[in-house]
Amino acid sequence: MSIFRTKSVETSIAHTDEPEHQLKKSLTAVDLTVFGIGVIIGAGIFTVAGTAAATLAGPSVTLSFVIAAICCGFAALCYAEFASTVPVAGSAYTFSYATLGEIVAWIIGWDLLLEMMLGASVVAQGWAAYASALLQTFGIELPAAIGSGKESHFDILAFGLIAVLTILVSVGIKESMRVNLVLVAIKLAIVLFVIIMGIQFINPANWSPFIPPAAQSTVEGGGDLLKTPLLQAITGSTGMVYGVGGVFAAAALVFFAYIGFDVVATTAEEAKNPQRDLPRGIIASLIICTFLYIAVSLVLTGMVHYDHLKTEAALAAAFTDRGAAWMGAVIAAGAVAGLTTVVMTLMIGATRVTFAMSRDNLLPGRLARINPKTGTPVLLTVLIGTTCALVSALTPIGELEKMVNIGTLTAFILVSLAVPVLRKRRPDLQRSFKVPLSPVMPVLSAVICFYLTLNLDIETWLRFIIWMALGFVIYFFYGHKHSRLHREPELTYFRH
Ligand code: ALA
Repeated sequence: MSIFRTKSVETSIAHTDEPEHQLKKSLTAVDLTVFGIGVIIGAGIFTVAGTAAATLAGPSVTLSFVIAAICCGFAALCYAEFASTVPVAGSAYTFSYATLGEIVAWIIGWDLLLEMMLGASVVAQGWAAYASALLQTFGIELPAAIGSGKESHFDILAFGLIAVLTILVSVGIKESMRVNLVLVAIKLAIVLFVIIMGIQFINPANWSPFIPPAAQSTVEGGGDLLKTPLLQAITGSTGMVYGVGGVFAAAALVFFAYIGFDVVATTAEEAKNPQRDLPRGIIASLIICTFLYIAVSLVLTGMVHYDHLKTEAALAAAFTDRGAAWMGAVIAAGAVAGLTTVVMTLMIGATRVTFAMSRDNLLPGRLARINPKTGTPVLLTVLIGTTCALVSALTPIGELEKMVNIGTLTAFILVSLAVPVLRKRRPDLQRSFKVPLSPVMPVLSAVICFYLTLNLDIETWLRFIIWMALGFVIYFFYGHKHSRLHREPELTYFRH
């Protein structure tokens, strides 16, 4: 079956040496960790955490963060093994091309596009909300139609941010890394500021009950079947929030806050010593963020009782509520800086995945040309930038996060399952990092990720199915015929 043809690891690595397809190798382990933190800490903790606590889990949102971290931790180990074995741009897409076959690689690539392009657009919307709040403190108010919020028809700030970042990313990755470093430093400082300054406002009574008793949802659309988590619909407990079910539903939502450690693996070809540094970058950035999230969520729910938490700009609002308006303003300014790096890094990730897919001709090969002056795929970057800018300007705010989650979780499931497959097929490959207890850990990783997807609502599942159907149409009408493995079958790795 030609849709299950695989591209050998050696061929993947050889393709990275073709001069017209070569990316600059300049990143170190520290660069990769900074890159990871730059993309991980973002709208997830600055906005989604507040929403999850207020509407789904109360103080036990901290447990949701722990559950999501465990899920990501397992997946991160699998990513680390792959990145240390197949150090080629394209992350999970490339790993699966070498193991599970072309069609699975395509599915993952398509999922990763959803994760990174839609992720960049969604975080840009969050950025715009904070930016307009900041502008308001200087007395500048945008007309509602081009502002940020529910009445907006064209979010001009989100559009502008992505336009500027597209230029920056086109100019070159090392230059973007420098900007990234400054912004990540500011972001970490703000997160620590929230934790340290917030402690004085904690009232332990706000943590009780830690897991609020399960209740029927009272929010608008709460009883709506489309808004019901798939698992609830299956078990017949439609429209419930809080309780243990709420902890898991919130975990599926705050999973968004961890997305990004996998994006580190997309830059494999730009790392100086990918075999050693990629596993370090992936695991270090995930561990650091997990500790910060647990601390921030405890402080947040300790400062304000969960039913008074704001669902927009929750961190800044919590301080303003406690009478510390200046602290709220500092946090809002920090969020503007911090969310910028997330958008930029997700855009870099999206270009690197599509780069790898075009190099294999599953997407038009022209897109993978590197501009000799900048050493980056300029055409691809502009194409992705334009798409993200339009999506962020034109779609309603707060709607698409869960779509990003389901795409990412699906990619995690497939990557996890691919680890034991590659071990069996290619035991000879050098692995500088190995997942302990394979195949138990990788399979457990896939099961946990799948369980989280079941906690996402039916509407998200339907949207995801439509996105996948579109992907299959493109693959069968374009990718399958044009694939480099189709034209050069000698590149295919045959199993003996
Ligand atoms: N993890 C990223 C964020 O929270 C996507 O914004």
